[in-house]
Amino acid sequence: MAEKKRLFTGLQSSGELHIGNYLGALKPFVEMYGQYDSMLMVADYHALTSLKDPDQLRKNIFDTVADYLAAGVTPENAVIFQQSDVPEHTEAAWIFECLVTVPFLMQAHAYKDKVARGLEANAGLFNYPMLMAADILLYDTDIVPIGQDQRQHVEYAREAAAKFNSTYGQTFKEPQELIRAEVGNIPGVDGKKMSKSYKNTIPLFDSDDAIRGAVMSITTDSTPVGQPLNPQTDIVFALHRHFAKNLPDLEKRYQEGTIGYKESKELLVQSIIDTIGPMREIRASLSHDAVSKILKQGAEAARARASQKMKDVRKKIGVTL
Ligand code: ADP
Ligand code: TRP
Repeated sequence: MAEKKRLFTGLQSSGELHIGNYLGALKPFVEMYGQYDSMLMVADYHALTSLKDPDQLRKNIFDTVADYLAAGVTPENAVIFQQSDVPEHTEAAWIFECLVTVPFLMQAHAYKDKVARGLEANAGLFNYPMLMAADILLYDTDIVPIGQDQRQHVEYAREAAAKFNSTYGQTFKEPQELIRAEVGNIPGVDGKKMSKSYKNTIPLFDSDDAIRGAVMSITTDSTPVGQPLNPQTDIVFALHRHFAKNLPDLEKRYQEGTIGYKESKELLVQSIIDTIGPMREIRASLSHDAVSKILKQGAEAARARASQKMKDVRKKIGVTL
């Protein structure tokens, strides 16, 4: 059998997750990563470009790993580790920084956007793409699953690989991005895109009551019970599409007018709880020690690979006598 391709991705905590994050990012990832030789890295040194609160950073590292484990990633099927545990990443980033130019890095959309939003333009933020290139290239990565917003960063990684290879000889593989298929925008309780910045979310890892409260607050029109409802425009139905066990049946009831919004919401609460209940249990059972142990094992596996690659790199650039 052909060897599995290497998959590498970096995870950033996005705070308390909601079902939009789950359906749009975590679930698609969990469904695919097992087909590859997968590595998942918590990008804690990248986080340092904007986060200067040590307690918050520690919490984010734990939460990021715990969220993915709860969503179904298992350490048996992926190397899960922290960027800061493998110093070869910052070492390789330096070497790439010496190969690319300032005007080239200045074209990065993510950098320009962050500065435009008022983030401090620190040198770490500017060099962010070369640290990301190091993350990816150190492991001879074939594919990098990411959201659309990260596409340019993978192009930068390819460019860094090409620069190195043309200067010192073939060393790094050029990776391909794998852009997540759009599940479309999951609507929030007010019908706008679900987003923590709009405060319209249905939480992923909160109590049944919190989920019920959010679902019951979904905006609906004033169609009286007994009248047909429009499944194309109803927000409750839009969410049922991702959770219902028997969607055609529900659609029929909408069209026939044999269901009202209240009952539809109650059914939605139950379907959401049935789907995410097991994940919440895993999330709640994860101790600090369990997560630390997984990260420690991951760090050893990642370091074994990265240090070997860096040995070759050091020879090629001429620092090994
Ligand atoms: P938020 O908008 O709540 O700040 P993030 O930007 O942190 O969410 O989202 C992280 C990822 O979760 C995004 O890249 C996207 O893939 C997914 N995601 C977030 N909100 C939605 C949504 N409403 N519908 C589909 N996917 C979403
Ligand atoms: N920059 C990525 C993000 O914001 C996270 C990341 C860091 C990453 N290193 C990576 C993603 C390597 C893919 C590969 O989401």
